Parts: sequence; structure tokens; C-alpha cells
Amino acid sequence: MLLKSIRFFVVLALSTLHLTAFSSEPLGTPDRDDIEYPDDEPNSPEEIELGRTLYFDTRLSNNGSQSCATCHNPDLGFGDGMALGLGAEKNQLGRNTPHLYNLAWNVTFMWDGRKATLEEQALGPIEAGVEMNMPLDKLIERLNGIKYYVDQFKAVYDEPITKAGIGRAIAAFERTIIVDDTPFDRYMAGDKAAMIPAAVRGMKLFEGKANCIACHDGPNFTDNSFHNIGLKSTDIGRYEHQKSPELNRAFKTPGLRNVVLTAPYMHDGSEPSLESVIRFYNRGGDVKKGISKNIKPLNLTENEIFDLLAFLGALTQHLDIKRPELPK
Ligand code: HEC
Ligand code: HEC
Repeated sequence: MLLKSIRFFVVLALSTLHLTAFSSEPLGTPDRDDIEYPDDEPNSPEEIELGRTLYFDTRLSNNGSQSCATCHNPDLGFGDGMALGLGAEKNQLGRNTPHLYNLAWNVTFMWDGRKATLEEQALGPIEAGVEMNMPLDKLIERLNGIKYYVDQFKAVYDEPITKAGIGRAIAAFERTIIVDDTPFDRYMAGDKAAMIPAAVRGMKLFEGKANCIACHDGPNFTDNSFHNIGLKSTDIGRYEHQKSPELNRAFKTPGLRNVVLTAPYMHDGSEPSLESVIRFYNRGGDVKKGISKNIKPLNLTENEIFDLLAFLGALTQHLDIKRPELPK
């Protein structure tokens, strides 16, 4: 009897743990105090400005045709408007260019999560032959020929231009791309008129019948995890880096802030609009083999589809990103 009741409590405790581990984080507004900075303090305005200049400078690509902003264009929701990206030599990339909103809180980067920090990520596209095709040693040499960069690296890092410094400065700028004052945020702060009724209904669906919150949870609408949602693409995704069967064709859950601006959608750019994304989820995905247990037909009515759409629209905030004048 005693043994039996001990077992009961162990099972109870374990199932509670299980529930906490898998329950969703509530939606809300991200807290800027929760951002983790490499030096445990916010980047200085000078470092951010240096990073912003590098981000928009086409001299970071070997043939001078591409900056980070060519693909992650602030006027196109930090994407490029294309299903699949195009490199500096006009070659087609294998995946869709993701947006860069609220990555300050993100803990895993790229569609397959192969990068762990913004600093580490930033050097990748510069060097990649299919992207900017620029050896970093050659870039340092080139930047050393531009007085602004020599002076600013010295002022900010108290050292000459280094690879690590380039990554740090660009990451500092990226951390400032923050969406946290949308109609949704104002609604959550108590202004019940901030969202139209359709969006309020859409939010209930998002957290309820449509169960989007199973993966798009927390203040940034992402669980920072990987799922196979049943797209037709044969890209193996996360499985390339982590050989668990459920990670075959699984990709990182993208955050949904400013999502209306970032079309087309998905790692393969296969969904042209948010309406088509919602219809895709409503039919329970396309390829059922290996699909996440949280993707099933939703039986949403036409009105409910447009309510969800209205809610995604309420996650929008215009950011005024200034393009710097590039130093000679
Ligand atoms: C040729 C187009 C192109 C250029 C130029 C480019 N990127 Fe990207 N970027 C992409 C694509 C495509 C991906 C997704 C690749 C993948 O996941 O396999 C990506 C992914 C990223 C991510 C990860 C986002 C996330 O949600 O995990 C960041 C951050 C990023 N790029 C920043 C930059 C920076 C900084 C630069 C300039 C140094 C840059 N990119 C240049 C196309 C580009
Ligand atoms: C099982 C987890 C899961 C559920 C449930 C889920 N999503 Fe997703 N969502 C993802 C993943 C993972 C991706 C990226 C998939 C890919 O590209 O392969 C994604 C992509 C998206 C995108 C594209 C974003 C972009 O930047 O390309 C939108 C929009 C979206 N989901 C909205 C929704 C909505 C609305 C619901 C509810 C009807 C929902 N999701 C339910 C995991 C999920």
C-alpha cells in the first residue's frame, strides 16, 4: 500500500513535470531587460552605428554588389520578397531569406538552428561562396583602406579591425531591430480598443481551436524549437545537425512579429501569402509522413480564417530604419 502510494506520487510528480515542460509560454510583450548581451550590458550607440554601417555596406561582398540589406531588406520586412534568395553572383540559394525581427531574444539561428549566436552568424554570409563570397582576410584589408572603419573600430573596441569585431558590431545593430509596440501589445497593456474585434477573435483561435500557440508561443511567438509541419519540400532541415527521426524535415519555428511584411513564407518560400499559410494549416499540412502531432486539420470556417489573419495583422509595427551614408 505504502509502496503503491509512493509510486502514485512519483507518477503524479512526473506527469506534472511533463505538463510544465510542454505547456506553452503565454503571449505578451517582450521585455528588453531580458535581452542577453555578450558583455552583460547593452551595446553602446557607437557600436550599434558601426554595425549599422557595416550592415548596409555593399563592400562586404567580393564584387561590391551585395550588403546584408540586399537580402534582409528593411523595406521588405527584412527579407527579399523572393521565395529563394539570390547570392552576389546571381546564384539561387537553397532557402528563403528569413526576417530579422526580435532576434535579440532568439537562442538558435538559421532555419535549421546551426548557429548559436548573432555574432557567429554574421560572419557566415560574408564568407559563403554562394552569398557574399568575401574571404574575411580580404574584407579586413579592404576595410583598412576606409578611414571611417579604422577610426571607429579603434574607438569602439580599442583595437584594429578583426573578424570578431565585425561580427560583434553587426550583431549589436541586429539586436536593435525590435517590434514591441503593435496593436496587440497595446491591447495586452489594457487598451481594449487597440485591436479590431476580428483580431480579438483571431487571438482566441490562435490560442485555442487553431492551436498555433503550441509552437508560436511567448512574447516573440516562437518556441525556438524545430518541427516538421508537413510541407512538400524534401530539405531535411534540422536532421542534418541532429539525427533524431522527429527532426527529419523539421525547421525552426519563426517568430511572427511583423509577419505580414515578410512574404513569401516558410523555409522554401512555398507559401505566397498569410491566407495561404492559414489554409495550409487548416487542411493539416500536405505531407503526413513524420508530421508533428500538433499539426492536424483544424476545421476553421471562412470567417475564422479571416479572424486569424486579422490577428496576425495586429502584430505589425512600422520601424523607421535609417540607411546610413556610406563612408568613402
Ligand atoms: C544572398 C542573400 C543573403 C545575404 C547577402 C545575407 N543573408 Fe542572412 N540569410 C539568408 C538566408 C537564405 C538565410 C537562411 C539560411 C538557412 O537557414 O539555411 C539567412 C539567415 C540569416 C540569419 C538567421 C535568422 C534566423 O531567424 O535564424 C541572420 C541573423 C542573418 N541571415 C543575418 C545576415 C547578416 C548580418 C548578413 C550580412 C553580413 C546577411 N545575413 C547576409 C540570406 C542572406
Ligand atoms: C507544430 C508546430 C507549429 C504549429 C502548431 C504552427 N506552426 Fe507555424 N510554423 C512552425 C514552423 C516549424 C514553421 C517553419 C516551417 C518551415 O519553414 O519548414 C512555421 C511557419 C509559420 C509561418 C511562416 C513564417 C515565416 O516567416 O515564413 C507562419 C505565418 C505561421 N507558421 C503561422 C502559424 C499559424 C497561424 C498557426 C496556427 C494555425 C501555426 N503557425 C501553427 C511551427 C508551427
